[in-house]
Amino acid sequence: CERIWPTIERIRNLKQEKNAIILAHNYVEPEVLYGVADHTGDSYGLAKKAKASDADVIVFAAVRFMVETAKILNPEKIVLDPNPNGGCSLADGIMAADVRRLRKQYPDHTFVCYINTTAEVKALCDVCVTSSNVYHIIEAIDNDHIYFLPDKLMAQNVIDHCRRHGIDKTIDYWDGTCYVHEEYQPEAVDFVRNANPGVDVLVHPECAPGVVQKADFVGSTTNMLDHVRASDADTFFLLTECGLTGILQSEFPQKKFVGSCTMCRYMKSNSLADVLRVLENPEPHQIIELSAEVRDNALHCVDAMFEYAE
Ligand code: 13P
Ligand code: SF4
Repeated sequence: CERIWPTIERIRNLKQEKNAIILAHNYVEPEVLYGVADHTGDSYGLAKKAKASDADVIVFAAVRFMVETAKILNPEKIVLDPNPNGGCSLADGIMAADVRRLRKQYPDHTFVCYINTTAEVKALCDVCVTSSNVYHIIEAIDNDHIYFLPDKLMAQNVIDHCRRHGIDKTIDYWDGTCYVHEEYQPEAVDFVRNANPGVDVLVHPECAPGVVQKADFVGSTTNMLDHVRASDADTFFLLTECGLTGILQSEFPQKKFVGSCTMCRYMKSNSLADVLRVLENPEPHQIIELSAEVRDNALHCVDAMFEYAE
């Protein structure tokens, strides 16, 4: 704590000097979440905070696609990416050229992209979704032909949801996965349930349908935090990145968090030193720039999400 305190203090002073805010995703390191962030949350909640902000500078400790989304919503602000390793296996798995080709192949489909996509990909799609609103938005879209990208497991979960609720839609999808969530197997849930009767099992919708079907609760990272905070259960298994279990274990030391979690190397690359560096002296590639065409088209896609979701 003594070691990181001067860095935290320096970051807090710089925020005031530059009229900056820091947004941090639920998966990033605790010293960023608790030490310097103004707002923490899931990708939807943080996009809303970015949209509502009146700061001059937004530093977004997360992964590149989330930082880009803040810039799409705030073209006039300085939006900074502190992460030296800001990819995401989903966002990196599909390029704009792929979407151009798919749109020719599926001319009558509504193109729905997960927020885990680059700005260039969003610019070619009709509506964006996040893990907190994907089922609702797909249900609400007035077209029974949908192309979903890039997460094939989330697409399969949506197909499963539609089948169970009698919603008749044809959903084609891209072949991407999150390298963290695809690791979970249904057998892990059975094993943990047998060893911990009464365990509350929470699953992120980037996991495979066989895992999601065994969950007590499915939702975004913030939905999961809220669920545990309101739950009477005393044992939980969270099938998602380790950051969530860390937050909850420190909030509820008397509760048990069982099973394994997996680190996202991309999210975990946001250190306090990175945040300080980007505020003091950002390198050109850390200052998000988007062409007017990409920005305008991507804004259309993100705004369509807000319209459906609100
Ligand atoms: P959330 O929007 O649920 O926070 O998810 C973002 C993400 O990248 C999960 O892997
Ligand atoms: Fe991307 Fe998966 Fe990491 Fe989320 S956990 S940022 S989807 S690689």
